[in-house]
Amino acid sequence: MADVIKDFPLLKRKINGKPIVYLDSAATSLKPQSVIDAQDDYYRRYSANVHRGIYAISEEATEAYENARKKVAGFIHAPSVNEIIFTRGTTESINLVAAGIGKTLIAGDNVVVTIMEHHSNFVPWQQRAVGKNVEFRILNIDKNGKLNLNDLDTVITRRTRVLAITAVSNVLGTINPIRDIVKSVRRISPHCLVVVDAAQAVPHMVVDVQTWGADFVVFSGHKMLGPTGIGVLWGKTELLEQLHPYQYGGEMIAEVHVDRTIFKKPPQKFEAGTPHIAGAIGLGTAIDYLQSIGMDNVRAHEKEITGYTLKQLSAIVGLQIYGPKTAEDRGGVIALTVKDVHPHDIAQVLNEDNICIRAGNHCAMPLHEHLGLVATVRASFYLYTTREDIDALVEGLEKVKRLLSK
Ligand SMILES: Cc1ncc(COP(=O)(O)O)c(C=O)c1O
Repeated sequence: MADVIKDFPLLKRKINGKPIVYLDSAATSLKPQSVIDAQDDYYRRYSANVHRGIYAISEEATEAYENARKKVAGFIHAPSVNEIIFTRGTTESINLVAAGIGKTLIAGDNVVVTIMEHHSNFVPWQQRAVGKNVEFRILNIDKNGKLNLNDLDTVITRRTRVLAITAVSNVLGTINPIRDIVKSVRRISPHCLVVVDAAQAVPHMVVDVQTWGADFVVFSGHKMLGPTGIGVLWGKTELLEQLHPYQYGGEMIAEVHVDRTIFKKPPQKFEAGTPHIAGAIGLGTAIDYLQSIGMDNVRAHEKEITGYTLKQLSAIVGLQIYGPKTAEDRGGVIALTVKDVHPHDIAQVLNEDNICIRAGNHCAMPLHEHLGLVATVRASFYLYTTREDIDALVEGLEKVKRLLSK
């Protein structure tokens, strides 16, 4: 995987004469030159609006935009390209689904999320339940950071309308067995919709939405080598047809009269206004790049790096790692604390050597509360992460201990 490094211009940059050790890919990934070029090419050569003009560059833009949709559909094995809706990102995709389903919730229903959800897959559901006499239920984790799947039978009931669940935790790294969970849910509550937050899954492993069997799957372009401001909602055709539109405006409308409006079919029904054309084209190019490497190779590399990191970190006294014990059970995310040192101080000391990690609650405050913590430090990896990066992290953490540990 070492030869991918040349493709990422940011990794050539130095700050104060030192290279950048980028260990924050769960927040956003770096971008390869091909993705930067694809966006640049759109703006330079054919930056017309899509679906509108009957002239060459508009047709070119429309073709590139719709081609990106096809690439996304292929990448996640969607049965139909019309099931791919471009949004601003995971957050908007979830809000779109929650707004539509929220309208249909009635007193006595319940909605279930897991304690490990990112705020963007927690709060939209919590807020739909509030004030409606709809119960907001939580599926908890065990001491190894894995979901208590034995509790599914009690947490999910016949009145559960939604299970909103992450495929990979952005803090614990836990990989949840989505396919098995969906099967169990279908057995308990045939009318429960399963919404999968795949923000930390689609960039890092093979995802097949048909194998998972869920109803909606969402993710962001910027975490998978693509641009910011573009994301995806995948949903089953019949559900997208029933779902109420999220926003109204141009391009999502078939007919408007003074007394009524008829919406277009999905995906246009959910893409009101001028979309992020360059972003979609960039995302399509990011998918080309990932496919040229192979998602099995991406996963294998991250597993190797995660295993190496777990081993190296285990030698540091006073350092605690959260989540599953083995790389097999986790994505490339490691959250940790160092005894008696505040995570923000750790981040600051590491920054002296250009080591980019995250400190805070990583938009997962309920999980941190559950663990009895205010904050953790998080290192996260991608296909360009090297063992040298991990050695720099380990050295940096040793320095933290020397400087700050009591
Ligand atoms: C698991 C998970 N869900 C949702 C999000 C939100 O993604 P975005 O900010 O791209 O909408 C993130 C981002 O960190 C995430 O890790």
